[in-house]
Amino acid sequence: MGVRKVEIAGKELVIHELDDVNDPDTGRALTGSWVWDSSLVLSDWIVNHGQEELNLSGQTVVELGAGTGLPGLMAALLGATRVVLTDVALLLPGLKRNVEANQLEDRVEVRELEWGSDESLQCQEGGELEDVDLVLMSDVFYDPSEMAALAKTLRKLCGAHTRIWSASEVRPWTSDCLDELRSEGFGVIELPSDFTPSSSASTATGSQPTFSVFHLIPPDPDLDVHPVTQCNSEIEFNPLDV
Ligand SMILES: C[S@@+](CC[C@H](N)C(=O)[O-])C[C@H]1O[C@@H](n2cnc3c(N)ncnc32)[C@H](O)[C@@H]1O
Repeated sequence: MGVRKVEIAGKELVIHELDDVNDPDTGRALTGSWVWDSSLVLSDWIVNHGQEELNLSGQTVVELGAGTGLPGLMAALLGATRVVLTDVALLLPGLKRNVEANQLEDRVEVRELEWGSDESLQCQEGGELEDVDLVLMSDVFYDPSEMAALAKTLRKLCGAHTRIWSASEVRPWTSDCLDELRSEGFGVIELPSDFTPSSSASTATGSQPTFSVFHLIPPDPDLDVHPVTQCNSEIEFNPLDV
């Protein structure tokens, strides 16, 4: 652990990883203490697609399960007007340190947000978070039983125009998580990423892990109909439509 300089397409961020934040119940380090490869994949996606598809300038961005906050900080570095990094309370001091390390305090704030918790979603200092422009999530699709709570938070944050960009290593249980989100009414579009983090270790079988970017489409609050799900890169897809 320690301090990492992360450079993606010429954009550089300083990220402190933590080695002293443990789950009080298990004693194990919290998973958000370090940079997961999916956050590098999502940051690369933001660098390559954020400007042309979104024009981040003027946008409000929320990152869920931010851990060390790399994708959200990248969005701020690229010009997003307001970025809110969220995670469980124990990870907030580390997130604040990373905001300061990159001198982004003027546009990045840090908030506790436990998925699905009404308390977390209530108005906090800084105002209600709803109808945001972009939601970012990296490596949060690992526990299908958490997806209903995540969906509740996403529904609260999203309006009709909100984009939801996420990245994940594709593991056996990733599709179970996405199925849960589909059953909550979200559309899922999978966009295989050609960015392979250099830190990405081979598995026991010698194969490289694969990563995908997933765009989620919020359910239409006025329709009790689930959006059509596309889950194949071969489907003709115009990112400007999402
Ligand atoms: C595998 S880590 C990924 C961290 C970071 N996004 C990254 O890619 O480097 C999963 C993150 O989700 C957060 N998380 C998991 N369950 C959560 C919940 N119910 N509410 C809020 N955050 C949660 C964890 O605290 C952790 O930061």
